[in-house]
Amino acid sequence: MSTRRLKVMFKEGYSYDIRVGNRLLVNLGIHMRDVTKATKAVVITDDNVGSLYLTKVRAALLKAEFEVFDLTIPAGEESKNVVVAAELWDALAHLGIGRDGVVVGLGGGVVGDIAAFVASTYMRGIDCVQVPTSLLAMVDSSIGGKTGINLKGGKNLVGTFKQPIYVAADLETLSTLPDGEWENGFAEIAKSALIDGTDFYQWLVDNTEGMRAHDETVIQQAIVQSLTFKARVVANDETEQGLRECLNYGHTFGHALEAAAGYGALSHGRAVAEGMRFAARLAVEALEAPEQLANTQDTLLDKLGLNPVTKVFPADELYERMFSDKKVRNSELRFVLLNRIGDWVTVVVDPDLVKIYLILWEQARMKGENPGKREEV
Ligand SMILES: NC(=O)c1ccc[n+]([C@@H]2O[C@H](COP(=O)([O-])OP(=O)(O)OC[C@H]3O[C@@H](n4cnc5c(N)ncnc54)[C@H](O)[C@@H]3O)[C@@H](O)[C@H]2O)c1
Repeated sequence: MSTRRLKVMFKEGYSYDIRVGNRLLVNLGIHMRDVTKATKAVVITDDNVGSLYLTKVRAALLKAEFEVFDLTIPAGEESKNVVVAAELWDALAHLGIGRDGVVVGLGGGVVGDIAAFVASTYMRGIDCVQVPTSLLAMVDSSIGGKTGINLKGGKNLVGTFKQPIYVAADLETLSTLPDGEWENGFAEIAKSALIDGTDFYQWLVDNTEGMRAHDETVIQQAIVQSLTFKARVVANDETEQGLRECLNYGHTFGHALEAAAGYGALSHGRAVAEGMRFAARLAVEALEAPEQLANTQDTLLDKLGLNPVTKVFPADELYERMFSDKKVRNSELRFVLLNRIGDWVTVVVDPDLVKIYLILWEQARMKGENPGKREEV
């Protein structure tokens, strides 16, 4: 399999490379030499990923004559907090890292977010390389430059925008990705395809079997298409002023569901997939989108194994949780909705209509069905 290369290019004139393929860990140091003059590389990883890949990454960086340090945090979302960030800042200072240093985030989205956050704030910002090892991190969190940590009051409430200088997605690392983590990446890929439009969408429909079999060529192509799509979006809207909002498709309902289930009880991927199912039904009434869209989308999500959520959550609770989402502005409920595949809009939806659809969702899920269209009265 040959490595695929993409470039994220910003209007302001700067850019960075992404590689997606094999042998990218062993060649990491050589590739980093092309983009940095740093002499010290600090690998930040978690204890799961570190135990599998740190030795290889250290060797690759040493081979390219970096002075190498590593810092390991406990795996899991709980590590994405200010205490761990402060420990990492202190550790960088203790190691004597200055502008001669580069941070390498080796892991999933948790490591990527906190490593980039620490890099972007330490000494007012040093460079960061992303080495994503989960499918979600490869297709989503490693590019786009959003960094962050969680507060008690919510996820990703503190963060910065800081683009990496290089992203290396080594497909070999996916061989150890736990089964339950794949669906998070699948949901992001499905979301990207639905927003991007017909070519990517049709390719995904034709390749759901290969996706579920983790066929390396199919997975590589899915990552490349998702990244191409996301790179185009973030390059045109680096700090989320408009276009980037499309990436929130499925999030308004999905985040409410995730919060209602208790973080960690329902995977992010399943929650976003359910959010897209909900949004497609809401679009029938809010936009007069064709009902067929919801069914077409259901088929794709089903084929990817992103099955409907079976646990029922009360409509009232989900409604309340939607309003407490950090993205709610002026007490308005904003949804990204599709008119058809590839044609999205952001709309403020009447809260009463949202409530009706939440009740329909609750009733349908209690019967084990997909919510249908609201009956005319
Ligand atoms: N910055 C962004 O734009 C952005 C976008 C989406 C999500 N995120 C963030 O990403 C995070 C979720 O990322 P995630 O789903 O990768 O979770 P994660 O980083 O917690 O990784 C999931 C689990 O898989 C393990 N793991 C990762 N790669 C592995 C591998 N190759 N082999 C074995 N185990 C491996 C990790 O140790 C962890 O236990 C969230 O904090 C979310 O807020 C950020």
